[in-house]
Amino acid sequence: MRMSYRCILIESRERVALITLNRPEALNALSDELMDELGTAIAEFDGDDGIGCLVITGSDKAFAAGADIKELQAQNFFDVFRRDFPSAAGWSAARRARKPIIAAVAGYALGGGCELAMACDLIIAADTARFGQPEITIGTMPGAGGTQRLARAVGKSKAMELCLTGRLMDAAEAERAGLVSRVVPAAELLAEAQQTAATIASHSLPITMMIKEAVNEAFETGLREGLQLERRLFQSTFATEDHKEGMAAFVAKRAPKFKHR
Ligand code: CAA
Repeated sequence: MRMSYRCILIESRERVALITLNRPEALNALSDELMDELGTAIAEFDGDDGIGCLVITGSDKAFAAGADIKELQAQNFFDVFRRDFPSAAGWSAARRARKPIIAAVAGYALGGGCELAMACDLIIAADTARFGQPEITIGTMPGAGGTQRLARAVGKSKAMELCLTGRLMDAAEAERAGLVSRVVPAAELLAEAQQTAATIASHSLPITMMIKEAVNEAFETGLREGLQLERRLFQSTFATEDHKEGMAAFVAKRAPKFKHR
C-alpha cells in the first residue's frame, strides 16, 4: 500500500477508507498528479480485504473546482486526444472499483469535480454544496461524463440548462433533482458519510458488490438487459454462504455473522 501522496490524504478506520482531496491552493482542482494518486488509492483500497466501502471528500470550501484549468490552458487538440484525456486511470477509477464509493461533497463540485462525484456510487451533500458544469463559461464542455451522468441523474431539461448556462445548483435543488441522496449540515457531513459507509461495510461484501454492479447497470444499459443482469445476480446471491447466513439469522431472530465482509 502506497502511503505517501502529495495531493490527497488517505486514512482508514475499521472497514471504511477515507480519501481527502487536498490541493487547497487550487480548490482541489483535479490535476493530472491528483487524478493519478486518486486512481492508485482507489485501486489499492478496492483490493484491500480490510476495506468494505470508500468515502471521497474535499474541503469545506470545495469538493473539487474541476479539472485543472491552469494545466489545460496550454494544451491543444492533439495533446488531449493523444492521451484520451480525461479517460486516464484516475478519472475512471471510481467507476471501475467494485466496492461502493460515497462522495461526501461540501462547497464547490464543479466541472470535473461534479463529474467525479457523479462517478461515485452515491453523493451525500453538505448544505453548503454547489454543483454545476460551468465548462461552457471557459470555452469547453463537460468531458468526464457530465453530459451523460447529469442527464440521467436530473433529467434532460435541467442537465441541458446547467450545461448550457453554467448555472450552479445549490444542495437543496440537487436533492430535489435527485442528484444527491441526502443533504446534511456541513459540520456533520463527514460523520454522516462515514456512518453510511460503515453500515454498507458491515454487510456481506460479495452481495454489496453485486448490488453496486446491478444499480450501475441501470445507467449504462437498456431496461431489458438491466433486469436480466439483476435477476442473474439475485440468483447468484443464493450461491453464497452469506445468503444462507443472512436468511438463517433472520429466521432465528439473531444478528447475521457474515463470513465475507
Ligand atoms: N483549475 C485551476 N485552478 C483553479 C480552479 C481550476 N478549476 N478553480 C479554482 N482555481 C484556483 C484559482 O485560480 C485560485 O488560484 P490563485 O489563488 O492562484 O489565483 C484559487 O483556486 C482560488 O480560486 P478563486 O480565487 O477563483 O476562488 P473564488 O472563491 O473566487 O471562486 C470558483 C471559486 C467559483 C469555484 C472559481 O474558482 C471557479 O470558477 N473555478 C473554475 C470552475 C470551472 O470552470 N471548472 C470547470 C473546469 S474544466 C473541466 O472540469 C473539464 C472537464 O469536464 C474534465
